[in-house]
Amino acid sequence: MIDKLAKCGDLNDEELKTLIETDSYDAELRAAADAARRAVYGVDVYIRGLIEFTNYCKNDCYYCGIRCGNKNAERYRLTPERILSCADQGYDLGFRTFVLQGGEDPYYTDDMICSVVSDIKSRHGDCAVTLSIGEKPYDSYEAYWRAGADRYLLRHETAAGDHYRKLHPDSMSLENRKRCLWDLKDIGFQVGSGFMVGSPYQTTENLIADLRFLQELQPAMIGIGPFITHKDTPFREFASGTVESTLRLVSILRLMFPYALIPATTALGTIAPDGRERGLAAGANVVMPNLSPTSVRKYYLLYDNKICMGDEAAECRRCLEARVELAGYRIMVARGDAKTPDVMKRVAV
Ligand code: 5AD
Ligand code: FES
Repeated sequence: MIDKLAKCGDLNDEELKTLIETDSYDAELRAAADAARRAVYGVDVYIRGLIEFTNYCKNDCYYCGIRCGNKNAERYRLTPERILSCADQGYDLGFRTFVLQGGEDPYYTDDMICSVVSDIKSRHGDCAVTLSIGEKPYDSYEAYWRAGADRYLLRHETAAGDHYRKLHPDSMSLENRKRCLWDLKDIGFQVGSGFMVGSPYQTTENLIADLRFLQELQPAMIGIGPFITHKDTPFREFASGTVESTLRLVSILRLMFPYALIPATTALGTIAPDGRERGLAAGANVVMPNLSPTSVRKYYLLYDNKICMGDEAAECRRCLEARVELAGYRIMVARGDAKTPDVMKRVAV
């Protein structure tokens, strides 16, 4: 099965189910995924500087710690000047991609977002700007694109309609989520999607639906991480996802999408001290250290026990460099766009 997946990039549902549910093939699966990643990306690991600029959110997703219904969350917003100074600091630390992430916060108008994006691009022309600010109308996405944004992250969370409804209130829909992803692709963004592993009520069939949806969407980036319980959400009683099942899915994704940019996520590093290193060894090729000011970091809590809360940007950068090298890989100072089969062909010629 693993050979077939490595050669054809696909398996039937029954085979996927077996791979997802059993731990018997883990070593072979990780080795095949690591080989697939090395064939396209070598030992390169791309870094993204994450700037969490607001934890206000108008949504009420049942799993998320910054949902509007969580009255215990201390809320903050960064001014455009503060966001720019995070990016400037990140640039000096070698970051060439900035990810502006936030809750869905109507306080930031499209004009404000566009002006921050174009300011970053004019100060740092060799950098990519990634937005991760949720579901918006087509016209807003188009405005961000015109302002110079290159990439957009919007996890689909789960591709099964019935499961989606168990994770979100009625005001949200899988249909609109997918509409956003297709709009973003249509406009020209490098799109990132993904899902949580081990979220409440998730079945193996749901995970297979996630893989099938990603095959349709063909995103440039795929972010997955374990669901982690947050004490102030309706899912406070549910257990977190596990490192093992998350790593298994990282490897399956790497074999299905050899060219994708796949992060070893902070959530993975939160449920196991060596989670991110193991993520890299299982096929991930991106890490996203935090550039948010330390004074606000402790408030951007999507889940409990999040790591890197007290560390300055420079410390996070150094720490990750050491971790990546110990795992046998190397951090690149570059925008780190996804490679494509065409680019590979040109290199081969
Ligand atoms: N555990 C793990 N991941 C979470 N996210 C939100 N809440 C949680 C949680 N409790 C993820 C979602 C979202 C991304 C920014 O963080 O997948 O898209
Ligand atoms: Fe932030 Fe290690 S990556 S302290």
